[in-house]
Amino acid sequence: MNLYQSVLKPLLFRMDAETAHHLGMTAISKGWVKGRRVEGAGLKRTLFGVDFPNPVGLAAGFDKNALALDRWKDFGFGFVEVGTITRHAQPGNPRPRLFRLPDQKALINRMGFNNDGADAIAKRIEAAQPGIPLGINLGKSKVTELEDAAEDYAYSYKLLKEMGDYFVVNVSSPNTPGLRELQDKDHLVKIFWRLREIDSRKPLFVKIAPDLTEEAVDDIASVVEDFGLTGVIATNTTIQRSMLPSDPGQQGGLSGAPVRDLSNQMLRWIRERVSAETVVIGVGGITSAEHAIEKLQNGADLVQVYSGWVYGGPEWPAEIAEGIRDAKLPTKTSQGE
Ligand SMILES: Cc1cc2nc3c(=O)[nH]c(=O)nc-3n(C[C@H](O)[C@H](O)[C@H](O)COP(=O)(O)O)c2cc1C
Repeated sequence: MNLYQSVLKPLLFRMDAETAHHLGMTAISKGWVKGRRVEGAGLKRTLFGVDFPNPVGLAAGFDKNALALDRWKDFGFGFVEVGTITRHAQPGNPRPRLFRLPDQKALINRMGFNNDGADAIAKRIEAAQPGIPLGINLGKSKVTELEDAAEDYAYSYKLLKEMGDYFVVNVSSPNTPGLRELQDKDHLVKIFWRLREIDSRKPLFVKIAPDLTEEAVDDIASVVEDFGLTGVIATNTTIQRSMLPSDPGQQGGLSGAPVRDLSNQMLRWIRERVSAETVVIGVGGITSAEHAIEKLQNGADLVQVYSGWVYGGPEWPAEIAEGIRDAKLPTKTSQGE
């Protein structure tokens, strides 16, 4: 057992989960805790013209406000996704809104896109030097009506478009009322039409829920193909609870080990339906290197992690990347865009 598992984790896990998260973020941004960098021949990916030192990224929601962008490379991450960022700063849902299920290696959150808003976060991103590829994840503000969603995404995109290596239209958080309806084809077309109008060259991704039907995945794949999107991120958190031994009775999105099978199903469905050049980022339920390898073998080009890291500690992302390196998988390198 390392220091995190034996000392720090038991202390952090005695606190409210969100308080522990903020404490962790402070420690990370001040450089009090570190992991290790991971690079190497078998790990590098060049996708849509961007060089990724390794395929393991920090998923959206961990550094929502771009508070520690310069630090993530030192934990072994090969890329980082900031956000979700909304046009308007917003406080999110009332606390408590983040819960641990330690026996399941899972989390439930109903944060509700708490973030400082596009203007404030843009200033931080501008001043940052992540040293690894940066994704910028965009969402709809709570105060914006669904019909006006495209303009809301457009505002943030216009402001941030020169600052990221790729951009994500997040339409899959379960914690903003109605947001998931934006996964419908008509809404998606409106959003991507507007973003393409602003800048037709930037790499664009759509992030999908793990709760979609195969028909809904068909529709999303057709939007991806029609707009020539760079890729898909599969998946966000689930609203299902059937894979838990009992319902913990908290509303919100479930992440971590219980979402793995659902996420992998979406990953396979989307991979089967989009072109080989389309980049698929697999996320959901990775709690070991084997799970990351499983996603790569299911057609993911890159993977992201969140909940597994909370349980694994500072060295864990590096261990996942090293596990992938040791597996010596064949890699696809595409130019895209
Ligand atoms: C506390 C928390 C906050 C999250 N916030 C966001 C978010 O703001 N935007 C987003 O696209 N995904 C968000 N996610 C989802 C993760 O990025 C990821 O898709 C999901 O947790 C599945 O991965 P995991 O099983 O490795 O945690 C959040 C997840 C958690 C646990």
